[in-house]
Amino acid sequence: MSTTLTLPLLGRGKVRDIYELDAQHLVFVTSNRVSAFDVVLPTAIPNKGAVLNRVTRFWMRKFAQIVGNHLVLGDYSDFARGFAESLPDTTSGQIEVVKRAEMLPVECVVRGFITGSGWKDYKRTGAVCGHKLPEGMLHADAFPEPLYTPATKATSGHDENIDFARTCDIVGMEMATKLRDLSLQIYCAGRDYARERGILIADTKFEFGVIDGEIALCDEVLTPDSSRFWPSDQYAPGREQNSLDKQIVRNYLETLTWDKTPPGPELPAQIVELTARAYEDIADRLMR
Ligand SMILES: Nc1ncnc2c1ncn2[C@@H]1O[C@H](COP(=O)(O)OP(=O)(O)OP(=O)(O)O)[C@@H](O)[C@H]1O
Ligand SMILES: [Mg+2]
Repeated sequence: MSTTLTLPLLGRGKVRDIYELDAQHLVFVTSNRVSAFDVVLPTAIPNKGAVLNRVTRFWMRKFAQIVGNHLVLGDYSDFARGFAESLPDTTSGQIEVVKRAEMLPVECVVRGFITGSGWKDYKRTGAVCGHKLPEGMLHADAFPEPLYTPATKATSGHDENIDFARTCDIVGMEMATKLRDLSLQIYCAGRDYARERGILIADTKFEFGVIDGEIALCDEVLTPDSSRFWPSDQYAPGREQNSLDKQIVRNYLETLTWDKTPPGPELPAQIVELTARAYEDIADRLMR
């Protein structure tokens, strides 16, 4: 599942292998690996990497008037393939050449609907990441307004929620404010677009960086790895929603006794198939 290009390898993330093309550019190979609870599983999801790149490109271009991004215009994938020594599970759709950014160490999470850890938080405290909420919300209800709930990568590898004041300490008040406002603006634009195509974007995470002194949208954008997508025709608050994203994998893993430490378990063929289909379904619905 991992790749080899004849370029300096800067690192392997849970999903992406990152190579240095030159001082200003990186080559990302978005693999078919899937991680859940911060553990990379031994089973790949066919075509997942290419779908993530396609969806990210689509949104980055759509939001380009709102904020710049790390995409290199033009299709450099064939060019980058020239560096491929062995790309076992790789098609050209998995390769993306991007501008190298100084990444900002804030995970910009936006939540439109209450679920996951937010729902657990609310049931215990009546608030989500410090945002006080009305009483009587049901699981999967929409928030009165989308919530910005930033996080930071903790040393353990798991994200740790932080409040807005803490993001000001980390990146400065002006940048922290920009990150918050941009995240909410992009989320709302994406949410409204997706809703017209029968998809509710329950929540998502953005990453920003600085390129040539300008803030830029980086990493991946509104993909089924970074977001929860709910088919709106099946939406019914008060229960877990059917999710066209990585939730399929998480839900399966929750049925096991696995303790969420490496190594992760293999996924059965049926789960692989369901997940692959969900990822492609999302891409098709968004881009048709
Ligand atoms: N333009 C860019 N320049 C430099 N680094 C980038 C750029 N865009 C994204 N990154 C970083 O590259 C890495 C992408 O790899 P990957 O998504 O596999 O990372 P990860 O953090 O391990 O996974 P996860 O998304 O689950 O946190 C991330 O660390 C991300 O912050
Ligand atoms: Mg990532």
